[in-house]
Amino acid sequence: MRKLKNILITGGAGFIGCNFIHYLFGLSNSGTDLFGDANFTGNVVNADCLTYAGNLESLKDVEEKFGGKRYFFEKVDICDRAEIERIFKQYDIDTVIHFAAESHVDRSILGPEAFMKTNVMGTYTLLDVARNYWKCSLDNIRDDVLFHHISTDEVYGSLGETGYFLETTPYDPRSPYSSSKASSDHIVMAYYHTYGLPITLSNCTNNYGPFQFPEKLLPLMISNIKNGKNLPVYGKGDNIRDWIYVEDHNRGVWEIVNKSPAGEKWNLGGENEWQNIKLLNEVIDLTSKEIGKSAEEVRATITYVKDRPGHDKRYAIDCTKAKTQLGWERKMTFKQGLLATIKWYLNHEEWMNHILSGDYKNWVAKNYTEQGR
Ligand code: NAD
Ligand code: DAU
Repeated sequence: MRKLKNILITGGAGFIGCNFIHYLFGLSNSGTDLFGDANFTGNVVNADCLTYAGNLESLKDVEEKFGGKRYFFEKVDICDRAEIERIFKQYDIDTVIHFAAESHVDRSILGPEAFMKTNVMGTYTLLDVARNYWKCSLDNIRDDVLFHHISTDEVYGSLGETGYFLETTPYDPRSPYSSSKASSDHIVMAYYHTYGLPITLSNCTNNYGPFQFPEKLLPLMISNIKNGKNLPVYGKGDNIRDWIYVEDHNRGVWEIVNKSPAGEKWNLGGENEWQNIKLLNEVIDLTSKEIGKSAEEVRATITYVKDRPGHDKRYAIDCTKAKTQLGWERKMTFKQGLLATIKWYLNHEEWMNHILSGDYKNWVAKNYTEQGR
């Protein structure tokens, strides 16, 4: 087990990052005790520049309990080298867990530049600062420091009806988002092979759970069902995604960070494939029941819209390596997790309304006019 003292989390105000910080501080949002304790006693520095997707409301409880003691927020862009250097020095960072990214495929199609800046240049900047601060070399790969990079299954491309992505599957990204993540993965590996920076890397499938920005499929659909809006399904709705509860992903990351040798890459996934339209029907049934609407009436609001350009058909991951070598496995069943997630969004009206107002509302009006959102 690594001894981690001062962890720099990037993108901790976003969906997965804020759930990770909650997990580290023993503040699970799952409504279950499935995930146990992270047993972490050190400090967390959260560096996030608060794009539209970053929201400090998601960390109010952490700030109240641990702010200024073991939790420190820094509003910083990961591309800002001087600021990242300052953070490394000021907090004597020994571990980086790098979540920060532009993460939405649709937005990457509408405007790729921010994806290249943050996902490629931002990752490079963090790696380079870490290498210099930790004085890494190939002759002596340190085991007291670590840079963990969070990545996605989308780097592997698109599957047909059969088969799974393995850690050894060649990269074949299709969207500006996935190509920017693929680039960052390669740079991370290059820093290990060339400079001896101790890195680990994980590629995960679609996460679901609390605090996800409601432009992504599940919170968008839950919110639209509640508000009587159309439910936009891309193409025929027959694309397939593999869904994992966010805390299962995060527990996997924590296992890797604590136990994995440097230079290793890990697939994490839910082993839980759903065709979009089937998943939507499940969400309609559960959400309608919770809010006392007729599922049939809600179903009538399903609207098939123009497909996402280059829409990957199917993602499915083989996570045998993490299961056998780390003893990690998914704990949340989909039935339990989906209902808990739906209830969470329905019960966090203030959080949702805040996000859905202001800039985001204007952005949707400008970019999704034909979809009647
Ligand atoms: P998100 O969009 O919800 O959050 C991203 C966070 O990064 C936000 O808080 C944002 O403010 C911050 N950020 C963006 N650009 C920044 C910059 N230049 N400097 C500092 N902070 C910046 O994303 P998410 O869904 O939580 O994804 C987190 C990570 O996990 C990403 O790397 C993503 O590629 C990866 N991932 C996501 C999923 C998923 O299903 N959501 C699955 C696999 C991997
Ligand atoms: O696979 C991991 C990836 O999962 C992450 O790397 C990304 O950061 C994350 O956003 C997610 O990407 P997807 O493109 O799969 O997620 P999204 O929620 O945007 O879409 C899920 C599926 O639903 C996809 O096939 C497109 C479809 N969809 C999405 C939206 C937003 C619709 O049919 N209608 C919609 O309105």
